[in-house]
Amino acid sequence: MSGEEKENPLTKIFSPRTVAVIGASRTPMKIGHETLKNVLVQGFKGKVYPVNPNADEILGLKCYPSIKLVPDEVDLAIITVPAKVVLKVVRECAEKKVKGVVIITSGFGEMGEEGKELERQILDVAKKGNVRILGPNTMGFKNATEDLDAGFVFGMPYKGPIALVSQSGALCIGMIHLAVMEKLGLSKVIGVGNKSDIDDADLIEYLDSDPATKVIAMYIEGIKDGKKFLKVARRCRKPIVAIKAGKTEAGAKAASSHTGAMAGEDKIYDATFRQAGIIRAGGINELFDYARALAYQPVPKGDGIGIVSNGGGAAILLADFLVENGLRVPELSPKTVRRLKEILPEIITPRNPVDLVGDAGFFRYEASSRLLLEDENIDGIIITCVHAGYARPREYAGAVMKLVREIKEKKLEKPILSCWIGGQEINEVVEDLKADKIPVYPSTTRAVKAMVALVREGMQCRRANPHTF
Ligand code: ACO
Repeated sequence: MSGEEKENPLTKIFSPRTVAVIGASRTPMKIGHETLKNVLVQGFKGKVYPVNPNADEILGLKCYPSIKLVPDEVDLAIITVPAKVVLKVVRECAEKKVKGVVIITSGFGEMGEEGKELERQILDVAKKGNVRILGPNTMGFKNATEDLDAGFVFGMPYKGPIALVSQSGALCIGMIHLAVMEKLGLSKVIGVGNKSDIDDADLIEYLDSDPATKVIAMYIEGIKDGKKFLKVARRCRKPIVAIKAGKTEAGAKAASSHTGAMAGEDKIYDATFRQAGIIRAGGINELFDYARALAYQPVPKGDGIGIVSNGGGAAILLADFLVENGLRVPELSPKTVRRLKEILPEIITPRNPVDLVGDAGFFRYEASSRLLLEDENIDGIIITCVHAGYARPREYAGAVMKLVREIKEKKLEKPILSCWIGGQEINEVVEDLKADKIPVYPSTTRAVKAMVALVREGMQCRRANPHTF
């Protein structure tokens, strides 16, 4: 954050110094007990205060009968009392000047008119007292960067540059586990629940200011204030990728009873996302595919893509799908063609895509990929490994890792994506690539779509900063 940039108002809530759990329960497995335990076990460095009028001590900590009696300023209160008690508790938080509350409790807007009315009353009290609300009906949040688990379901992701915002709590937890398996690092994971106060736009603004976040990935069921969302998303300097669920009548009905969301007309969302420069993902794999590429590779300066492959078929599929998606597979410059001729066997035609044929080893793989990266006609490359008989996946992975390190060191704005096609035998190598933060995809279509996302983001950056890009 620059000296002039003001701290985002949500920073105090997502990076609190003091946390209270109101409704901290004495009984293991109750949500209020597990929430307190999660705050404690993740190694949060700030102070923690359980609040429960029926207990003296929980998990070794002194318990306070009311938030008003906590002998400290409180930045964040996590609320896990039943719905009928929440209004009273939020009123006390306002009197205590708590900066923000996470309302995990369900039973509000998603239940119909009566719940909506209670949600409105709570919001009214919070607004008057300057208390921000995350939820209600949320899984809470996880600040992986600062080891704070402010949620009731155990499980922290690896630390990394992708922020995940989700309107579904359970799906969000599933996505955390998937991210761990995929070796994707997350900065913040935020469940928005019913979005009575803090909404997607507020979170985009906050995450744009968060130094640990490079890419914002979102699962959205409905947006309440389209104008605010569009304005903030357009201003955001970081890439946003988003799933918008509830496209069909059946999906929209399910969203309404899940989080009280108005799913709205899909065409309108599509247009809003396009205007805001948001890259729309069709599902979770796509969301992660795009986020992985955007988090770990530079955006290209143009749309000319080079392909290197040890299998001709994969190269053709990539070329077709790139062109079908509006990208180019350009001719190589005469200089590159000449240099490729010097290093490749005579049977290989030096052209884009470069088909290295079945017996390629490390040198052929690495040297030809480097020549493509040095070609002025090429803005980014997809390097493919097909696990055919003579293939040497370990050597190819070594080549990719070396090239990715080099483009980072040289700050070359040419992304390298990998497409690794095979079965269990190459899994170990693929895992090594993922651990080294190299975007690797199991199919030609997934690799191309990730490249399309990078190219689109590059175009957006050039439109926003024509002199820098
Ligand atoms: N202040 C503080 N603590 C209080 C107060 C008070 N005023 N009044 C009662 N408590 C204590 C209780 O004594 C109890 O502690 P104890 O177990 O030691 O006695 C504790 O608060 C919890 O109260 P319970 O009445 O036991 O409530 P319970 O744990 O059964 O349920 C809960 C509360 C979990 C909030 C429930 O109402 C609920 O909403 N569950 C669903 C939560 C959920 O799924 N949320 C969102 C999912 S994710 C998504 O995104 C869709």
